[in-house]
Amino acid sequence: MNLEGKKILLGITGGISAYKSLELIRMYKRAGAEVKAVLTNNALEFVTPLTIQTLTNNKVYINNFDTSDYSPEHISLCDWSDIFVIAPATANTIAKIANGICDNLLTSLSAAYNKPFIIAPAMNCNMYNNPVVQENITKLTTLGYNFVAPETGFLACGANGTGRLADLNKIYLRTAELLNPLKPLEGKRILITAGGTIEKIDPVRYISNFSSGKMGISLAKCASKLGAKVTLISTFKVDGDFENIVTLSAEEMLKEVETQLDLQDCIIMAAAVADWKIKNYSSQKVKKTNTGDSWNIELVKNPDILKTICKKRTGEKPIIAGFSAESENLLQNASEKIKSKGCDFIIANDISRTDSGFSSDYNEVYIIDKKLNTKFIERTTKDEIAKIILESIFEQTGNYIKTGSVCSA
Ligand code: CTP
Repeated sequence: MNLEGKKILLGITGGISAYKSLELIRMYKRAGAEVKAVLTNNALEFVTPLTIQTLTNNKVYINNFDTSDYSPEHISLCDWSDIFVIAPATANTIAKIANGICDNLLTSLSAAYNKPFIIAPAMNCNMYNNPVVQENITKLTTLGYNFVAPETGFLACGANGTGRLADLNKIYLRTAELLNPLKPLEGKRILITAGGTIEKIDPVRYISNFSSGKMGISLAKCASKLGAKVTLISTFKVDGDFENIVTLSAEEMLKEVETQLDLQDCIIMAAAVADWKIKNYSSQKVKKTNTGDSWNIELVKNPDILKTICKKRTGEKPIIAGFSAESENLLQNASEKIKSKGCDFIIANDISRTDSGFSSDYNEVYIIDKKLNTKFIERTTKDEIAKIILESIFEQTGNYIKTGSVCSA
């Protein structure tokens, strides 16, 4: 992949695999990129500034307090570059970045960086498996940092395990991919719904549910990054690279979804639509004095948006997917739902779990298609789940090219 004209800031920290970053510089340069390197003091124990300077054809950056330039380096290097790649990254530097510590130029740059960021850890296997290190990596992954995981094998310290710097080709490809993101959904129109619908009782009260809308938002952001033209219908305002229509009740949402039905290539109903609405909405606030000690509110069934649009579509388009929120008999209930609603895919999740699902940034799902082929996606971030859902839906339509972790960039 061509990197002509791209500007790469390469961070090198103090691990034995720092010698491999010399080859990484050459790979970037061969592809046409310009490289500037920033080193920690410990990295200087393993590689020399002269080598790096010769390979990059650029000054080497080490200290925070260089006076040769009027512009602060931790800002000017951020502005200059298109991407920041730290390879190798030690447990120490990862911990500092995860906790916002800025005690050298490399960590100060990390704190100020707001463009694509890659971290390629390398360390002893026991260090890598240490729960604190893993927690830092998970925290940074959730925040959108891209990790190129280390490999398993013989380590320089003599141990055998996971901790060896990833194959340089993998680091290179991830860099190229983030700099020239593939847009496999270019030309597609995708409608996503999100959030729990709000069913008004009177002007001050309503019934709803615990849905946070996070899964739908991850889907909208991911579909947009993959090149689709996205419309997000949500029960609250969401900012992003997509059109956002806010609706409150199930009926309002149905109306908007129906309007969009023939315009879309795909509709994903991630909203938690309330099954019931208030039979008699009161346009005046209901006073306590008028209700007595108890208040019976009569509920009537809401329209089923998913079922309605599946019935109304005339051809194969749009592809329609729904979610299945279950607290028991997950797969059985989900398989029945795909049939009763008439949709093409159901994404089933167990809402009784406390470590994923409602309000969480994580989810664990099954993706089920019409033939009841089932794909299990183990617990991971909703951003990752979103990407896998979109891939699974569009792979079945043919010519979909898989990308790396573009959605969490
Ligand atoms: N759904 C919908 N309209 C409704 C209820 C649900 O469009 N009135 C959609 C949801 O957006 C979701 C799917 O149907 O994509 C399944 O929702 P879920 O709450 O799991 O199931 P229900 O259909 O409500 O059935 P039950 O509550 O009996 O499980």
